[in-house]
Amino acid sequence: MDEIIEEIRDAERITAFTGAGMSVESGIAPFRGEDGLWNKFDPQEVASASAFVETPERSWKLFKLQIEECLESDPHKGHYSLVELEDHGLNSVITQNVDGLHQRAGNNEVLELHGSLKRLVCQSCRHSFMVEEFLDDIKEGHIPRCECDEILKPDVVLFGEGLPHDILQRAWKEAENCDLLFSLGTSAVVQPAASIPAAAKKSEAKIVEINLERTPLTHDVSDYFLKGKVGEKLPEIIDRL
Ligand code: APR
Repeated sequence: MDEIIEEIRDAERITAFTGAGMSVESGIAPFRGEDGLWNKFDPQEVASASAFVETPERSWKLFKLQIEECLESDPHKGHYSLVELEDHGLNSVITQNVDGLHQRAGNNEVLELHGSLKRLVCQSCRHSFMVEEFLDDIKEGHIPRCECDEILKPDVVLFGEGLPHDILQRAWKEAENCDLLFSLGTSAVVQPAASIPAAAKKSEAKIVEINLERTPLTHDVSDYFLKGKVGEKLPEIIDRL
């Protein structure tokens, strides 16, 4: 921990890369592991682009659960620590999460690689709506529809879909220009997002990984690995700065 504190003090530009483990202590289920969503749902059957087209009612069962979890959740101490880290050089948060908790905690620069559950988009006329406009429908299990009568889809990236180009380009830049990157609560198995820490490493940034378990990053990419909960380790780091 002492070395990590030194690295933060020496760093001018810090970036955080976060995954579902960052939101677990806020009550949002991760995707993999014991309590993972992919134990309850087959991702190819509910969270792929082709599945949404063929059986949108199945996909909406997943989206309904995710949206309701989002509504019932609040940022935790770990999220607020990342806001405080902005006073120590944190420049951006690159997230795979679609829950909006980093923005709700108050981080200024959040790059949502996998989109957001906060918006619904019509797959036909591309009209975009805030999810709040359809909460009653969603809670009653109805599939929200656009004024053009097409089924709406949350503005999230499904398997088989490309990531938003401009956001991905900005994320690569942040990774290549930082001198310290935190990898927080991600299994680092889904590409291209999982390559962000390696891109920072290639630009000689130091990589600090905080996770409950070792990941593909731990051996080859991370300079420091803190085993534990982000909601405990991040406040500990802030307290020592
Ligand atoms: N603190 C730290 N790490 C945690 C915590 C916690 N409180 N709780 C869980 N973790 C760790 C788990 O050990 C696991 O390694 O967080 C990781 C979560 O991994 P995943 O569930 O695979 O989530 P993520 O890496 O974000 O998945 C990437 O996959 O399904 C797609 O689009 C989805 O964005 C998602 C992507």
